[in-house]
Order: sequence, then structure tokens, then C-alpha cells
Amino acid sequence: MTTAPGRAGAHRLVAESPGFALAKLRVGGAAWDWRPDHEEEHVKAVRFDHYGGPEVLEVREVERPVPAPGEVLVGVKAAAINPGEIAIREGLLESRWPTTFPCGEGSDLAGVVVELGSAVSGFADGDAVLGWTSSRASHAEFVAVPADQITAKPEQISWEVAGSLFVAPLAAYASVNAVAPQAGEVVVVSGAAGGVGSIAVQLAVRTGATVIGLASERNHDWLRSRGVVPVVYGEGQAERIRAAAGGRLDAFVDTFGGGYVDLAIELGIPVERINTIIDYAAVERLGVRGEGTHTVDRIEVVREIVEMVADGSVEVPIAATFPLSDVREAYRELAQRKTHGKIVLLP
Ligand SMILES: NC(=O)c1ccc[n+]([C@@H]2O[C@H](COP(=O)([O-])OP(=O)(O)OC[C@H]3O[C@@H](n4cnc5c(N)ncnc54)[C@H](OP(=O)(O)O)[C@@H]3O)[C@@H](O)[C@H]2O)c1
Repeated sequence: MTTAPGRAGAHRLVAESPGFALAKLRVGGAAWDWRPDHEEEHVKAVRFDHYGGPEVLEVREVERPVPAPGEVLVGVKAAAINPGEIAIREGLLESRWPTTFPCGEGSDLAGVVVELGSAVSGFADGDAVLGWTSSRASHAEFVAVPADQITAKPEQISWEVAGSLFVAPLAAYASVNAVAPQAGEVVVVSGAAGGVGSIAVQLAVRTGATVIGLASERNHDWLRSRGVVPVVYGEGQAERIRAAAGGRLDAFVDTFGGGYVDLAIELGIPVERINTIIDYAAVERLGVRGEGTHTVDRIEVVREIVEMVADGSVEVPIAATFPLSDVREAYRELAQRKTHGKIVLLP
């Protein structure tokens, strides 16, 4: 890799891979183009022009983002996808988070710093980083992100895991903290093998509580391997949970919705020890807690997660990876709601 000064005095990295070999060297106003202009300025990003199913998603050539002051331009290596992005794309969250079209998508990201905006310190061209954007923009080859929303990627964390360390882990972190399990208590987690649940169960185990994870049979071995007591969900689950709990039930983390808050109430768990990241009607109706990613979206929390993943105490299972061009397929798979861990795009 070599470096070259970029736009507005920013420093740009010129990498050897074709995706990055877009060098335009400017010295004292002079410029030498090594590749035609259109190749330099246009990069690939996911866009959609109206609400709908995965078929509205397109990978388009867009202008390469320019980092504003305080921002860093990241060449994205991995960016996880999340069910919330499906809800946004289908228009279900219009009243809460309105959309302007054409719209991009994606929050989680990991990649390599390729350009620094002014007033950025602590990062250099070529740094491997992970973090998030709040601009629906990470499902792209390049994304400009505020420097206080990224942190160093430890070498031992793979790109696909690094690109998954925001939405789901922070929702898990918020959920578990909200119900504050104590050593010796029993906590139940619904959707225990999913993107959020698979991390929530591990964070809950670390508190010393007994953790019951609701999941399909095929995920039980993994749950056991992480110290979780697996229970099959569906008909008769209340009895199975009581039997597995051995006499006490203290807290409930709902990562799936669809009636699990009511189940928790039925099991006698107090409302202040129940958290849901999806059933906001139940939060209104019953006064349970509704803490999620948005309540803990601070870089310090991301760093805490990164440490736990780097030292192996928390595992982030990767269900599948897809090239950016297969973004529709990636979301079709996620929409099945059978994912164990994360699905990740590799732009
Ligand atoms: N508020 C927030 O901050 C926040 C943040 C992230 C996500 N969310 C929301 O939280 C939910 C979970 O997100 P996610 O990324 O974990 O989703 P996900 O990865 O798609 O969840 C898949 C999991 O759902 C489980 N599942 C399917 N049907 C189920 C049922 N009837 N009962 C219990 N579990 C069932 C599956 O379990 P088996 O495979 O074991 O059957 C699978 O492991 C989504 O609705 C998402 O929008 C909210």
C-alpha cells in the first residue's frame, strides 16, 4: 500500500486491491490521473427508491463519500445486516424514522481507514477499524463515519465478526443490563440463538446467573457449549421453562417479540425484570423495559464488547456471508428468522 494526499488536504490511502486502486495524486494543485475520473469518483453502495421487499434493493454506482471534518472514510470489508433494516425498508418504521429516497442502509461496519477528514486524530490510513454509522450507509464499498464511532479492530477478530459488533451486541448488552441478573438467579432469553439472543445469553452467563435459552433443537448443542440451558419454544414452553428453572425465575430477556413478554408475566417475573427489544406495545401496555441498541450506542460499550470477543469469552456466530451484489439474497435468508448469529455482507 502507498499513500497519497486526498481531497481537501485529507490523506488518502491507495491500496493495491483493484477496489482501492483509484489513485489520483494531487501535489500543489497539479494532478496525475492513473485511472479515468469516473472510476475514481464512483463506488458501489446499496440503494432503494421506495418501500418494498428485498427486490427494491439495488447495488448502484454512487459518488465516493468525502469525509467531513471529524470523519474518517472507511473502505468497508464487512457489514452485518439486521431485521430492523427490513422493517425500515418495508416502511414499517416510517413514523418513527422517516426515510428520504434514494435511501441507503446499514449500521454495522468493519474496514480499513482510507482517508481522514480534518480534525481527526487517533487514526491513520490503513488502520483496521470497526464501529457504526447512523446514516444508513455501511452496505457500501466506502462509508464516511464520525471518528468517535469507530475503534481499532484487534487482529484476532475476523472481518465478518468485526462487522457485526454494533446493532446486535449492543442490543444484547442493553437487554441484559436492563434486567441485571445476579449470581444464583435464573434468567430466560427468547430467540436465544439469533443475532441478539446468541450474545445476550453469553453476557447473561457471565453474571453468574443460570440462563435458560429458548431455541430450536438444532441450536441446543451450541447453547450448551456456551453454558446455557436450552429449552424448545412453542406449545407447552411455560411448563418446560418452569421445569428447567428448578423453582425460581427472576428475569426475562425478550429478543423475539410475539407474546414472550406475556409469557414472562405468566411465569411470575416482575415487570422491572423483563426487557424486550421489539415488543414496544408491551412496553406501553405493561410497563416492562424496552432498552436496546439506542440506549447504549457509545463507543465505550463497543470497546467492551470488542474486548470480550477478542479474548474469546463471547462468541459471535456467523451464519452466512454474502458479497454486496447478493444483498437481496442475504435479506431473504435473514427474513426466514432462523439465523444462528449474524449474516454479513462483504463489499
Ligand atoms: N431495539 C433494538 O435495539 C433492537 C436491536 C436489534 C434487533 N432488534 C429486533 O430484535 C429482534 C431480533 O433480532 P435478531 O437480529 O436477533 O434477529 P434474528 O437473528 O433474525 O433472530 C433469529 C432467531 O429467532 C428465533 N425464532 C424464530 N421464531 C421464533 C419463535 N417463534 N420464538 C422464539 N424464537 C424464534 C430463531 O430461533 P431458532 O432458529 O432457534 O428457531 C432464530 O435464532 C428483531 O425483531 C429485531 O428487529 C431490536
